[in-house]
Amino acid sequence: MRRKIIAANWKMHKNLDESLALVSEVRGMLRDEFYGNTEVVIIPPFTSLSSVKRLLEGTELMMGAQNCHYEENGAFTGEISANMVKSTGCAYVLVGHSERRQFFNETNDILAKKVKSAIRQELKVIYCCGETLQEREDSSYMKVIEAQISEGLFHLDRKEFSNVVVAYEPVWAIGTGKTATPEMANDMHMFIRKVIANFYSEEIAQNTSILYGGSVKPDNATSLFKCSDIDGGLIGGASLKARDFIEIVKSTHN
Ligand code: PGA
Repeated sequence: MRRKIIAANWKMHKNLDESLALVSEVRGMLRDEFYGNTEVVIIPPFTSLSSVKRLLEGTELMMGAQNCHYEENGAFTGEISANMVKSTGCAYVLVGHSERRQFFNETNDILAKKVKSAIRQELKVIYCCGETLQEREDSSYMKVIEAQISEGLFHLDRKEFSNVVVAYEPVWAIGTGKTATPEMANDMHMFIRKVIANFYSEEIAQNTSILYGGSVKPDNATSLFKCSDIDGGLIGGASLKARDFIEIVKSTHN
């Protein structure tokens, strides 16, 4: 049975004090009955990880980082390795967010190396994929997604792949207020599951959690999470408001 996951991608928001305030608020509002089978992951900026971790002690909340470098250490000024991420107490790391692909030129090849190094550190990887508006309109999007998945992930063996969560985030829906309709999103999730089944196995595909991301809000979350192949969400803007975020976590049970 695959797990539902709601992950809060804070992006480059919240300094240290603001991070602690937001986590305290979320922790205070989250009650056991909201979790159920849902895993909740908070993904703050690097600068807040260690301090946020202390506030998460004794709760079921997990923590993740937004990125990592593929080398374990070395002369890469300004970079953070998967080993360093792990040492802060993260269970997860995001790899391949479209903003990393777009603004930091991260290719599928680079992302494959990041995935490898994260898995080696026993981190779970939330691997993002998604098409641009142009790719959606010129109908190349299936090919684009298939390449993102196969080139970024299929170097992993079956055991390693069990630590991968996929997040489908159409670029045209991120931060724009435009959400894919639940049918559109579910179709893509089924397609991604088929790509995984063809390469690994149907069983592995059925056990892989596939999250949707892109303008998920309390008022559209239930209709998305009700879909057969949508196993939760990667939440940007709405994760910065404790009440909205809690509503989204709760809606995985509706
Ligand atoms: P959004 O961001 O919810 O603000 O659209 C999602 C993401 O980029 O992960």
